[in-house]
Amino acid sequence: MKKPEIITVIIAIIAVVLLTALILARPVYLALNPEETTGSAEESTEETSAEETTGAEVTTEAAEITTEPVTVPVTEPVTEPVTEPVTEPITEPVTEPVTEPVTEPITEPLTEPVTEPETTAAEAWRLLYTPKHIEGSESVGITSSGYAIEVKDGITYVGGILIANKTYTLPETYRPSEYMGKEWVAKLLPEAQTAFEKMQADFKAENPRASGFKIQSAYRSYSYQGGLYDNYVKRDGKAAADRYSARAGHSEHQTGLGADINPVGTSTLTEAIKNTTEGKWLAENSWKYGFILRYPEGKEEITGYLYEPWHFRYVGIEAAAAIHMSGLTLEEFLGITSVYAD
Ligand code: DAL
Ligand code: ZN
Repeated sequence: MKKPEIITVIIAIIAVVLLTALILARPVYLALNPEETTGSAEESTEETSAEETTGAEVTTEAAEITTEPVTVPVTEPVTEPVTEPVTEPITEPVTEPVTEPVTEPITEPLTEPVTEPETTAAEAWRLLYTPKHIEGSESVGITSSGYAIEVKDGITYVGGILIANKTYTLPETYRPSEYMGKEWVAKLLPEAQTAFEKMQADFKAENPRASGFKIQSAYRSYSYQGGLYDNYVKRDGKAAADRYSARAGHSEHQTGLGADINPVGTSTLTEAIKNTTEGKWLAENSWKYGFILRYPEGKEEITGYLYEPWHFRYVGIEAAAAIHMSGLTLEEFLGITSVYAD
């Protein structure tokens, strides 16, 4: 090789070496001068420029990294703690304690004390009356209160007390001898009449300025009672008449032991009698003479009749005292019903 050719080769080698050195030195230069890497200063960060070599890729990834830590912590902690603790503690404790304690303590104490003292009191008052046995009668049963039901000559006695109501009938032929040939008499049977006259006198002595009371109607025969009832049915209808008038054979007036008592000077029997001096006194004191208010107010379902403040029944002092003190009707005291069969 000639000398000029050798020089040319050497120059070429130097040029290649310089060019190579220049290429290899560029990354080092770029690493030491980050601001030279990208054209936009806003998109770059210190971490990305140190790690990455190309401007476009570094910018995108850095942007993704920047958004992630911001969204995740903001959405998750806000929704969860707000919804859960608010709904659960409010529904459960409110419904359960309100329903259970309210129903149980109210129903049980109300039912028991009401029935027991009433039954006990009735039993105690029954001890005042010793039931009588009717000589020559036939025993046909025992009432719910334990009294014997006896029948003699077609007449029913319960605990020795003659009964005439919707359940127990009097025979058409039943007529006390005192009333022979009479359809209607304003006088009771002798024992009851004597008791009535004593009661009448005592009232006048206690209330000298009051008018006093009298018997408006006492005995009525079977047929007379039947005629009265039929007239009431024609006037008011059967259902209405049955509430205040007895059918033939079912009236206490046929026994000679029942009487309609009203103040002197009045002839009609109305509920207003309960507010008169006579009516009030009779309701409070007639038991002392052996009479009971037979059809008390509000007892229609038991006696079978509307309130009659004028109708009294003679049962004797012992029975009248026990029945009056018990606060029971005759039916309740004896444990019997008063209902028509049809
Ligand atoms: N007023 C009564 C119920 C009777 O008729 O015997
Ligand atoms: Zn009457």
